[in-house]
Amino acid sequence: MSKIPFFTKQITSPFTIPSGIVTTATTIIQRIFDTMPEVGVMTTKSVGLAPRAGYREPVISQYAPGCFVNAVGLTNPGAEQLAAQLATLRVPEDRFLLTSIFGGSVEEFVEVAKIMAPVSDGLELNLSCPHAKGYGMAMGQDPELVREITAAVKAAVNIPVIPKLTPNTPNIAEIARAAVAGGADGLCAINTVGPGYTSAHGHPVLSNGVGGMSGKGVLPIGLKCVREVAEAVDCPIIGCGGVSSADDVRAYQDAGASVVGIGSSLVGLTTEEMGQYFKTLEADLAHGSNNAESQIRYDVDMQFRPVTLVSNERVCDDICILTFDRKINLKAGEFVFLWIPGLGEKPFSALTDDPFSLAVIDVGVFTHDLMSLQPGTEAYVRGPHGIAVDPPEGAKIITVSGGTGLAAVYQVARDFPNTEIFTGARTAERLYFIEECKKIAPVHIATDDGSEGHHGFVTELLRDYLQGLGEEERSKLMFYNCGPAPMVHAAIAVEREFCGDARIHSAIDYLTKCGVGLCGACAAPDGRRLCVDGPFMDASATTKCV
Ligand SMILES: Cc1cc2nc3c(=O)[nH]c(=O)nc-3n(C[C@H](O)[C@H](O)[C@H](O)COP(=O)(O)OP(=O)(O)OC[C@H]3O[C@@H](n4cnc5c(N)ncnc54)[C@H](O)[C@@H]3O)c2cc1C
Ligand SMILES: Cc1cc2nc3c(=O)[nH]c(=O)nc-3n(C[C@H](O)[C@H](O)[C@H](O)COP(=O)(O)O)c2cc1C
Repeated sequence: MSKIPFFTKQITSPFTIPSGIVTTATTIIQRIFDTMPEVGVMTTKSVGLAPRAGYREPVISQYAPGCFVNAVGLTNPGAEQLAAQLATLRVPEDRFLLTSIFGGSVEEFVEVAKIMAPVSDGLELNLSCPHAKGYGMAMGQDPELVREITAAVKAAVNIPVIPKLTPNTPNIAEIARAAVAGGADGLCAINTVGPGYTSAHGHPVLSNGVGGMSGKGVLPIGLKCVREVAEAVDCPIIGCGGVSSADDVRAYQDAGASVVGIGSSLVGLTTEEMGQYFKTLEADLAHGSNNAESQIRYDVDMQFRPVTLVSNERVCDDICILTFDRKINLKAGEFVFLWIPGLGEKPFSALTDDPFSLAVIDVGVFTHDLMSLQPGTEAYVRGPHGIAVDPPEGAKIITVSGGTGLAAVYQVARDFPNTEIFTGARTAERLYFIEECKKIAPVHIATDDGSEGHHGFVTELLRDYLQGLGEEERSKLMFYNCGPAPMVHAAIAVEREFCGDARIHSAIDYLTKCGVGLCGACAAPDGRRLCVDGPFMDASATTKCV
């Protein structure tokens, strides 16, 4: 791999993943540093001075294959916290860590820049985010403000500063010249286009109503902008917007980009597939071929299908079972999103697929409203998402669940022979669906207060059972754990006494937002993403990589 000069470093490749896509968590960044040398520039999610939760889901909507609008709302942990996280990264010598920053004023940009500079190789200035109210748009469209922000940040730090330009301006060349007049070392173009609006079944999809457009449809706009910028100024340009193939990369290079970002096209790719995609892209550039695009997941489907609630049975104060009027197509291990317009969308395992039913525990805004959802309510489902479980033939399958985790494993027990169900609850009144489980597999119950089954933790019951197994059965063990994180960790500890990590699969419900791998919210401690690499991931996923 020959090295390419990029400001202060010699980098491995001319590719980056643009800000806010996939590489939004430190663990994901470290995994890509460690396993994907083809990504030469690592761009972080834009960070501001104060933490921001961002908008509630839906935050990403698909309007055609490979085409998206998003309104994430600049979710970020705040500069101080992100700086502490980035400080723990092992950044390879031949990779460039580009931290994207934003601010509500010139002073705020400078303050964030000063905090982030010591842990970054360069700063990208997000002047152009079209949807976060009060930020971005107005700044990126005003040449004098762009010059002022760039000059102020340049005066405050001594690393390269790369303003990122919005395409939503009649004269991007003028903005580029202003940024360079302010001292910009390089430029990035483009941020998202629009905003645009999507609706489904008569309702706006994004909780923010409108969002920035990205993906295949914005390619011609990105190319036009980069060409105009390259004609106006003489500095390195990071080009992005709609890139999916090596031909697109070459088109950006012809337009004047030296580094090219591939963002929305990574939709649906597992971490392993993403590594393979970048390898192919690099080989395409080396050999003049155009093979990488065949790996893009144009089949990812985020469309919503209607379902009507038939019954809402309360199990206890904070758990209910919702049964809908139809079957959904979903294999054991996969998950869906339930969308209620006006309320939002959240991911769930289907307790059963036919009819579609959910076991829900009340933990927040959405799930609280589900507790009293009235029969007859029309809701919408997208998916299935995630990877179905695939135990080897002849496996001795053990499912371990707590809370609503039973929903994720019931279909495993139903669809694969030779399964034992272990389930735990605080009290007997919190148990549900037990009779149905008994019809398909032996059921082992534990309650903390002893009101049903074993008095104590389900993991104690599990250890006793496993100790009673012969060598032959132990060699075929395959575990599927789902429930509260402490229960899953305790189960993994017991299971590791009997087999290796490759036979232990756990679904811990890390906060999952887009479900298609783009937003990176569901990062596991090892840098994989639950929504595309899971939800069931082998036990090494729980081991921190930074
Ligand atoms: C693949 C998958 C399958 C799931 N299956 C089920 C299921 O079958 N039944 C079920 O009841 N739930 C399930 N969940 C969890 C469910 O999606 C969350 O409980 C739900 O998103 C919470 O939304 P809310 O609006 O009620 O909470 P919010 O108002 O968004 O949040 C309330 C509080 O809970 C925290 N929180 C929110 N989501 C999570 C999370 N995922 N993990 C930890 N803390 C969180 C927030 O930080 C906040 O403090 C699943 C999650 C995933 C990823
Ligand atoms: C989910 C999502 C989040 C994004 N977040 C940011 C962000 O925080 N800062 C930023 O400058 N651009 C952000 N962008 C814009 C991208 O960095 C990129 O400029 C744009 O998506 C065009 O590239 P693409 O078509 O390859 O996705 C985001 C885009 C998406 C899809």
